[in-house]
Amino acid sequence: METMFSHLHSSAWAITILLFLIAFFLLKGGKAKGGKIVHMILRLFYVIMIVSGVYLLSALWGFATIYIVKGLLAIVLIGLMEMLLGKAKRGQLANTVVLWIIFIIILVVVPLMGFGVISF
Ligand code: HEM
Repeated sequence: METMFSHLHSSAWAITILLFLIAFFLLKGGKAKGGKIVHMILRLFYVIMIVSGVYLLSALWGFATIYIVKGLLAIVLIGLMEMLLGKAKRGQLANTVVLWIIFIIILVVVPLMGFGVISF
């Protein structure tokens, strides 16, 4: 069970980011239908990431503080992806530089915490 969730989590995270980028550029380019479909698949991947992540956090890591923080940051990351996609859909991408900077910082930090490069 642990290996299954571990494999799921480590193979799904890159796909999640890739789907976000595809959905973003489709919506930004006015491809509403394609963007909507990819966005829906992306939301399924959020669920996969959260379910497998919470499982690993509880069953494998006994709610270790580092992974609680990582999980919370990952939820913020999902929130930021949703905000950026919403703005792309509505054509409100002006003044989103700060949002992108926060997104990229958390996007780097979360995998580094996942791989144990950042630890405390
Ligand atoms: C979009 C959201 C997320 C991304 C991009 C992400 C990314 C990653 C990455 C890259 C790893 C390292 C994988 C590996 O060792 O091959 C990892 C591991 C981990 N993640 Fe996530 N994660 C996300 C969501 C979550 C959530 C919501 C939780 C918990 C509530 C969580 C808990 C964990 C735990 C506990 C590990 C350690 C797994 C292990 O090595 O046994 N993750 N994550």
